[in-house]
Amino acid sequence: MARHSVSVIPGDGIGPEVIAEGMKVLDAASEVMNFELEWRKYPFGADHYLSTGELLSESALREMAKHKAIYLGAVGDPRVPEGVLEKGVLLALRFHFDEYINLRPVQLLEGVPTPLRDKTAKDIDFLIVRENTEDMYIGLGGRANKGKSRQDLELLRRLYRVKFGLDIESDHQEIAYQLMVISRKGAERVIRYAFQLARETQRKKVTSVDKANVLTYCYGFWREIFNQVKPDFPDIETELNYVDAVTMWFVKNPEWFKVVVTPNMFGDIITDLGAMIQGGLGFAAGANINPEGTSMFEPIHGSAPKYKGLNRANPVATIMAGSLLLDAIGEKKAGKLVEKSVREVLKLGKPLTPDMGGTQKTSDMGDAISVKVREIGPSL
Ligand code: NAD
Ligand code: IPM
Ligand code: MN
Repeated sequence: MARHSVSVIPGDGIGPEVIAEGMKVLDAASEVMNFELEWRKYPFGADHYLSTGELLSESALREMAKHKAIYLGAVGDPRVPEGVLEKGVLLALRFHFDEYINLRPVQLLEGVPTPLRDKTAKDIDFLIVRENTEDMYIGLGGRANKGKSRQDLELLRRLYRVKFGLDIESDHQEIAYQLMVISRKGAERVIRYAFQLARETQRKKVTSVDKANVLTYCYGFWREIFNQVKPDFPDIETELNYVDAVTMWFVKNPEWFKVVVTPNMFGDIITDLGAMIQGGLGFAAGANINPEGTSMFEPIHGSAPKYKGLNRANPVATIMAGSLLLDAIGEKKAGKLVEKSVREVLKLGKPLTPDMGGTQKTSDMGDAISVKVREIGPSL
């Protein structure tokens, strides 16, 4: 019997609750499909950080590197200053394992209400490929000019006058800056992945989303690389969109999109919008992929602290991320089984979690989907 080890980081807030349901469903799928899943749990997140001061450990990273997949709930906790866990756990993992593709499907499943009037499941079905290692996320930046001497301030004032023609008040001179970087290698590999994905999934159209009209250095470069990759895929239609306009088109004409490829920062923002048109954050799954290494599967939502411990978060996003995880460890049939079971349960309209207007629990949804996995069984 095949055996797979999978690392699990339940994390904070609703993370542990949704991950428990994801594990329940994946365990059911492994029983039905006759393979073994060995879960290797890690405690990283707020409680662990507050009690030990540790964000991740070298030994855990070494262990995780031996396996293909990490299953992550969410991190982020009001007791910890913002950014500490997000950068120190989540981004650190994405970067450490060079998970340069962040695949976030936007699919309205039948039975799920969308806020878009007149749009149905056939209109909302596309894949967002978000670059996952660079852009504004490289974490280079700083702050300056706090507590400067009079002399320094005078120099700065002169500099601003000469260089920018600006007259600035000395007490307005404290600044913060953050760099964005796009590398040829970083952009090209994710853009190629998006084209390949369009070909493999018969979606046949790739839309690049950027802001090349204003952030000309970085996104002009991104666009240049997109246009250089394009001729290698003559069978795929292409389109260039600016990010501001794309937020409008996602709402007005989501059916236009097949595969969207975009740098990290815009990818973060437009995938929450994508989640909303597919029914909300409780439905949006994501995969942080390194095709040759360790990949990480998670819902795209955060730890929703207000729902912590209430057993009311929707676990579907996490369960669908679990389906992507099964694909990645080579259990494609089990991945399909999980996806099909989710679709069937949602189509029935029972159970309904509060985000869908119902009163049922996180665990009711996980139970119903596991039962469905067993009911459909190996024949699919
Ligand atoms: P969030 O995604 O946690 O929640 C926003 C809102 O969406 C929630 O208040 C809730 O109304 C709804 N929601 C989210 N997930 C849901 C679910 N499964 N079922 C039903 N409703 C759901 O975003 P936020 O409030 O901006 O961030 C909370 C914390 O999570 C912060 O610390 C943030 O940094 C962190 N965060 C972590 C990740 C991650 O670990 N991948 C992602 C985003 C945010
Ligand atoms: C996401 C989150 C993360 C991101 C944060 C928590 C670091 O918003 O996964 O979308 O910005 O990528
Ligand atoms: Mn986000």
